[in-house]
Amino acid sequence: MKYFIVTYGCQMNVHESEKIAGILEKLGYQEADKRENADIIVFNTCAIREGAEDRVFGNVGNLKKLKKQKKDLIIVLCGCMTQKEATAQKMLRTFPFVDIVIGTFNLPKLGDYIEAVKKGRQLEIWQEGEIDELLPYKRTSGDNAWVNIMQGCNNFCTYCIVPYVRGREKSRKEANILKEIKEIVAEGKYKKITLLGQNVNSYGKDLNPPVSFAKLLKDICAVEGDFKLSFMTSHPKDLTDEVIDVIASEEKIEKFIHLPAQSGNNRILQKMNRKYTREKYLEIIEKIRAKIPKCHITSDFIVGFPGETEEEFEDTCSLVREVKFDSIFAFMYSPREGTVASKMEEQIPENIKNERVNKLLKLEKQIQKEEKYGK
Ligand code: SAH
Ligand code: SF4
Ligand code: F3S
Repeated sequence: MKYFIVTYGCQMNVHESEKIAGILEKLGYQEADKRENADIIVFNTCAIREGAEDRVFGNVGNLKKLKKQKKDLIIVLCGCMTQKEATAQKMLRTFPFVDIVIGTFNLPKLGDYIEAVKKGRQLEIWQEGEIDELLPYKRTSGDNAWVNIMQGCNNFCTYCIVPYVRGREKSRKEANILKEIKEIVAEGKYKKITLLGQNVNSYGKDLNPPVSFAKLLKDICAVEGDFKLSFMTSHPKDLTDEVIDVIASEEKIEKFIHLPAQSGNNRILQKMNRKYTREKYLEIIEKIRAKIPKCHITSDFIVGFPGETEEEFEDTCSLVREVKFDSIFAFMYSPREGTVASKMEEQIPENIKNERVNKLLKLEKQIQKEEKYGK
């Protein structure tokens, strides 16, 4: 019996697919080289932007032929997109050949759904779930080992679907994280360890007693062995001086910070509920550069947030010019059903969003060139 997993979205999902592979291998499945050779196909989906969802719809549709040729093929849809009940129902309706549709919290029970599928199609979406402390992983990312330190998000940025599909922040116990790190190091196959969380800087606030992210980093670095440590994603409002100091002082930590700014304009930042200002963001960047010379800094930006004027977009451009990031991701704002921003008036037309994203990316390219070759 063979499995094939198709993964969309962020590193969190990539790692979750390693968990799915771990579960399937425990059930006796082996990895197939292509989907045509699989007995079970899993789509681990992403809901962050409409484009991500459209891709899933198209690609699941393409499985119809395969299912016709292979009646026993099991098709599973899981991840952030199917965590939304309405989308899950729609997918069941649209794709009668799909067997199992589950949400993000149901994953540990995947084996049970596969067993139950003999009796009929399975649809189950839990609204809450415990954080998986000790599931089997099949690591698939070369010499990098992902380690999940927390799940969920409490920030409710007004454009973002993540808090709705991943639930509230839950941190893993420090002892379990350290145990996993020691096992990874002992295996001797991994040069890099990357800690994952939607908002790693608020790690441990929910633990009893609380543990700070800075302490977690220090304790991981104290694990004997040869490895480089990095983490994502940091939220500017929670990045403490203590964390910056630890990155500066610990040799094992990569001198790299992904620090999404989203916008360079204070009115838009407030409407996004980001809880920092342009000035505060720039202050953090200054601090990082003072304490960690040559630190690589990257960022995410959203253009065309509801109501964003041309001048407000220019503020984003000027921030990009001012900071000179090592690289940036720029996204056109995509309304997500159920979020606050999707109900805001003054949604920006697609063609303007498109113009702005191209402008920002062009600017970024130009800055990179200037940094490399001089003006
Ligand atoms: N937890 C991380 C990132 C999550 S999503 C953080 O807080 O930074 C990754 C990126 O997708 C975000 O940084 C944002 O730039 C973008 N994004 C999120 N929701 C979006 C939406 N509705 N439309 C366009 N881009 C979005
Ligand atoms: Fe989304 Fe904001 Fe949470 Fe990041 S911090 S996952 S952008 S709500
Ligand atoms: Fe997408 Fe879910 Fe990640 S919405 S970006 S896969 S947390």
